Amino acid sequence: MAENEKPIGVFDSGVGGISTLGALKRELPGEHFRYYGDTKNAPYGTKSTEEVIACVRRVVDHLTEADIKALVIACNTASGAAAATLRAELTIPVIAMEPALKPAEEAWQGGQILVMATPLTLKQEKFLGLMDRFGAHAVPLPCPGLMELVEREDEAGARHYLETLFSRWDLEKVDAVVLGCTHYVFLKPVIRDMLPERIRITDGNAGTARQLRRVLSARGLLRTGADGSVRMETSGEAERILPVMERLYRKALDIV
Ligand code: DGL
Repeated sequence: MAENEKPIGVFDSGVGGISTLGALKRELPGEHFRYYGDTKNAPYGTKSTEEVIACVRRVVDHLTEADIKALVIACNTASGAAAATLRAELTIPVIAMEPALKPAEEAWQGGQILVMATPLTLKQEKFLGLMDRFGAHAVPLPCPGLMELVEREDEAGARHYLETLFSRWDLEKVDAVVLGCTHYVFLKPVIRDMLPERIRITDGNAGTARQLRRVLSARGLLRTGADGSVRMETSGEAERILPVMERLYRKALDIV
């Protein structure tokens, strides 16, 4: 098979990375994507770095069996924990994510920048490095338990969680909210509703899609056309989870 005809592997601890997959598909409709949600081992964000690396290795072994031409880590937590290891071990390009703090800081208007992410993301060296460069006005906001509500499509539960979270802040003093976990992007419409219009909401999905395009293009690996396929798999209970993934994928194609 010609190199550029090969699929691109995309994974997350569960359904969150499907928000990224939507952005990838919009940017690169001609590509074939294979998505893997490691639902059985979710959440990653309350595990140790070593535990996440072990989970990620199993996922990547599975995806590379499908002869992928590139790998997108559609998970901030797994990116921080395992991107460097994967880059050292794999010969295909590895595209990783980080909380979109940089664009929020660049558009800074005098207030705080709340960075919502998993507890593990916020502890990692990768994030501490990002804080050193762009964190002058950032406030890390760990959100344990929030990804589970997205996995269960529990919008009422998520709304309640977010109301409690934001009630601790004087929103008058907030400039931007960074969605530093791919699961939270599915809550963007709910969060948008809750916050004053003035507060910017940033996430890394569109930037990741542009980065994937740049990397594929630089290596002559782009597949053109508009007939790319999408296959989804889960390490969890397929009968229950695949329909959720399908529903969220349709939603993801519309979230910008
Ligand atoms: N979606 C993942 C992220 O972007 C993490 C969720 C989790 O497994 O805790 O960080």
